[in-house]
Amino acid sequence: MVYTEHVPVLANEVVEYLIKRPSGVYIDGTAGSGGHSRYILHKLAPDGLLIMLDVDEDAIAFLKKQFTGEPRVEIIHSSYTEIPHIVRNLNLSSVDGVLLDLGVSTHQVYEGSRGFSFMREGPLDMRFSKDISPVSAYDVVNTYGREKLANIFRIYGEEPYAEEVADAIIRYRSGKPIETTLELAEIVAGVVPHSGKKHPATRVFQALRIYVNKEFDNIEKGIRGAVDVLSSGGRIGVITYHSLEDKLVKNIFSELKHQGLGRVVKKHGIRPKWSEIQANRKARSAIMRIFEKR
Ligand SMILES: C[S@@+](CC[C@H](N)C(=O)[O-])C[C@H]1O[C@@H](n2cnc3c(N)ncnc32)[C@H](O)[C@@H]1O
Repeated sequence: MVYTEHVPVLANEVVEYLIKRPSGVYIDGTAGSGGHSRYILHKLAPDGLLIMLDVDEDAIAFLKKQFTGEPRVEIIHSSYTEIPHIVRNLNLSSVDGVLLDLGVSTHQVYEGSRGFSFMREGPLDMRFSKDISPVSAYDVVNTYGREKLANIFRIYGEEPYAEEVADAIIRYRSGKPIETTLELAEIVAGVVPHSGKKHPATRVFQALRIYVNKEFDNIEKGIRGAVDVLSSGGRIGVITYHSLEDKLVKNIFSELKHQGLGRVVKKHGIRPKWSEIQANRKARSAIMRIFEKR
């Protein structure tokens, strides 16, 4: 399988705002194809350490090949929700910075067999890791009832036609199971009107991905766990690509602040420069929020 590399978003800003001590210990909690990690390593001194995590086995296999012989990295197949255990297992007392770059990697979108894309034919899967997520998108669309489906589309996709999509799915599957991404995309496009440049299935696919991977629970657990192991003055940066995730991160940081655990750096978050958005379309919706431990 060819691994499609991912162009990291806000990479210079990640280094500028997170890497304060070149000899420090940092965690790239969503290493993907190592785009951000490469930028971080440029800034790290020979005695610095970068711990790279991903739940996706393909990503870990790729990273291990790419970073062989690099003594400053530790590549671990694990969820970022396990950061406190990982830090303890490595006999570290704390870390200086953590990065979470949420969402799917370019490789995951392009690899049709992962079932993430409404543009590429593949089985309805959408799991980052089959070990961690027992329920696939196939199970959800073929077995859940109308109410539960509509709730998923409404809550995790803010889909205004959530009920209509749920009805269309139930009608279709009474004839045969919905097996592929393009089959589902077509069912959704039959009831959700086209508006602007977005494909009508964008929100439904987003909702299913968030649901099957329990992404919102993970984000909350991941951020809290990371803040627990940050050193004083250490920072966590979280990059999101849609308003629902951004709202969640903003609220978690605000709660942490009210609990007296630290401060939010740059109240309105950091957005990519115009030049980055021109070069990389994926950057247009990105925002990074940063929290600094007291
Ligand atoms: C947007 S990509 C990261 C790309 C990376 N920053 C780069 O520059 O190559 C998000 C990555 O997070 C991973 N991921 C999703 N949930 C995760 C979790 N709970 N723990 C660790 N990694 C996760 C995905 O498998 C994917 O590779």
